[in-house]
Amino acid sequence: MFRSILVFAFLLTLIPLSSAYSATAGKYSDYFEPLPRRVDSLTNPLNTAKIRLGKMLFFDPRLSRSGAISCNTCHGLSTGGVDNLPTSIGHGWQLGGRNAPTVFNAAVLGTQFWDGRAADVEEQAGGPILNPVEMASTEELAVKTINSIPEYVKLFKKAYKNEKEPVSFVNITKAIAAFERTLLTPSRFDRFLVGARGGLRQDEIKGLEIFVSKGCVQCHNGVGVGGGSFQHFEYGTDEGRFNVTGNESDKKVFRVPSLRNVKRTYPYFHDGSVWNLSEAVKIMGAVQLGVELTDEETDLIIKFLGSLTATRLIIKLPLLPPSSASTPLPDPLFSVKQEADNVEVTGSTGSGSNPVTPSAE
Ligand code: HEC
Ligand code: HEC
Repeated sequence: MFRSILVFAFLLTLIPLSSAYSATAGKYSDYFEPLPRRVDSLTNPLNTAKIRLGKMLFFDPRLSRSGAISCNTCHGLSTGGVDNLPTSIGHGWQLGGRNAPTVFNAAVLGTQFWDGRAADVEEQAGGPILNPVEMASTEELAVKTINSIPEYVKLFKKAYKNEKEPVSFVNITKAIAAFERTLLTPSRFDRFLVGARGGLRQDEIKGLEIFVSKGCVQCHNGVGVGGGSFQHFEYGTDEGRFNVTGNESDKKVFRVPSLRNVKRTYPYFHDGSVWNLSEAVKIMGAVQLGVELTDEETDLIIKFLGSLTATRLIIKLPLLPPSSASTPLPDPLFSVKQEADNVEVTGSTGSGSNPVTPSAE
């Protein structure tokens, strides 16, 4: 008896505390988490030199075979971390098979890519450099290029101080990943979650309530407002995670995308087939939840989603060091040129128009 009174008295002391903390925001902290300042890694410890180097590499097209494509080509930091294309255009004007997700906040996601085939940004970063439809390079060529640029060699030595071989392909990817770990975009929603001023407006809170009550939050939750789980999505022809695991149960299963900055990252879905956010939200309601959202509900949800846009984003363009006499020359017609030779197409002189139309995959 006495004990339960004590417990009750103890509970009473908590009430003023929790109501001083923003009552509305507190209600949502079970579902969401504010963004951290940066995302650390045990296997890729961050330091200023590494982050700075990674930023330069992110913008450097010399990591591509053509000398024309950088990470920023498809993940433009001035356009929401994406290319705003249904599917990306890579080496030799080839179209990729999937929409480019944003690099902003990618470091907080549980896995990388639409099918989750990479565990983290470190594992992810090598992929596009080597992918023949993206940057079409090789590990040797990337390392040779970096080694030919004296200022880069110096910066690698600074970023990887105690290492015997600072310039390596792994260290290129680690530096890029270190930079990505800083690409976080706090928004008014984060202010709301911590109960700070300048959080959500009334209609955005209404939208958030609908987002929660309709069940969007079952999949789009956590620090990324998505990015933490794999879910079935019956849409399009892409088999999703099945291509990675080979399990029947993974057919049409995709990593739930983060909804941070979603207003900027159109077009939507893994195939970039939907340009309009209202339409994407309605498809989600119908396909994932079996509900038909009204126009009013959809508008309010979109108001809420707008609060996930970065509030203040200042990124200074890095100045890249010049090439040297030994830097491998750009090879924009690589492989496309070989194909042309094989089928004896004439006119591929490299002087302009390319007679070969690469297949759309
Ligand atoms: C030719 C366009 C292109 C280039 C160049 C490119 N990417 Fe991507 N990126 C994509 C596409 C498309 C995807 C999605 C592919 C998939 O899921 O199968 C993607 C996925 C990603 C993801 C996963 C994000 C998520 O939400 O899962 C990250 C991170 C990323 N890229 C970073 C980079 C970095 C770093 C570079 C440079 C080293 C780079 N990309 C170069 C097109 C590109
Ligand atoms: C059962 C899990 C689940 C539920 C519930 C769900 N989503 Fe999704 N959502 C996903 C998955 C998976 C994708 C990725 C679809 C794909 O492969 O293109 C996605 C994609 C999206 C996209 C497109 C993002 C982009 O960058 O292309 C938006 C917008 C979205 N969801 C909003 C919502 C809203 C709003 C609701 C509630 C009405 C909702 N979702 C409910 C799992 C879910």
